[in-house]
Amino acid sequence: MKIVHTIAELRAELAGKTGRAFVPTMGNLHEGHLALVRQARAATPGPVIASIFVNRLQFLPHEDFDRYPRTLENDCRLLEGAGCDYVFAPDERELYPEQQGYKVQPPAELADMLEGHFRPGFFTGVSTVVHKLFNIVQPQIAVFGKKDYQQLMVIRRMVAQMALPIEIIGGETCRSEQGLALSSRNGYLSDAEKAEALRLSATLRALIARWQGGERDLAQLEADALRHLSAHGWQPDYVVLRRQRDLGSPVEGEPLVALAAAKLGATRLIDNIEA
Ligand code: PAF
Repeated sequence: MKIVHTIAELRAELAGKTGRAFVPTMGNLHEGHLALVRQARAATPGPVIASIFVNRLQFLPHEDFDRYPRTLENDCRLLEGAGCDYVFAPDERELYPEQQGYKVQPPAELADMLEGHFRPGFFTGVSTVVHKLFNIVQPQIAVFGKKDYQQLMVIRRMVAQMALPIEIIGGETCRSEQGLALSSRNGYLSDAEKAEALRLSATLRALIARWQGGERDLAQLEADALRHLSAHGWQPDYVVLRRQRDLGSPVEGEPLVALAAAKLGATRLIDNIEA
């Protein structure tokens, strides 16, 4: 596996190589990321490329950009074991040599709700860096985790609307044995918070169970779920049940997804469960 830090070096390494599969990350990797890399590996005989870049554009000023863990050496060791061929780890000056004035602005109806409502500009930051990384890596396949459900949807829509010749594959969320969705931010949690964090997925499952049990007062179901988390010390941003297709209101007979974001102590966690 080769580790490259510049765009020129990566382009030279990849010249003439087809069937590229790409997994963009912000590093501090865990089993969830490695599963995406293995999925990429299985999807192509060509090179598998992972990027590691903590993208300032997708953080709000009060968020954890500065303390986001940078663990390049360990990440590279893990990536090699998962079958990655190239790690692209640019520094900020390489990816943003000047202020990134051109941005990719996703449609408001998709990007201004849920995560985008509570983290304004987040999906513009994500879309901009992913579009730029796509231009650099020029993959035929790219793999994104379903843990970031809305992000996956935003990327799929960007690829479709911009006619990018890339197949987007969604990877299932990896969970601990107890059900906690793996996340780089779990590392911020104390042991007691880790135990409490299980309540997030349990709350989503309970919301789905009530809907599937025939309850149809959605506002009430969502309010109960929010109250349940608040009662246990969480500061929830949202707990909602939506249809998978476009994250619109649930419709009978259509596949659904329950999504939540909530702060536990100083750590903001997100999760979702398809139904
Ligand atoms: O999901 C992430 O880790 C990031 O949002 C991504 C896709 C690597 C863009 O910075």
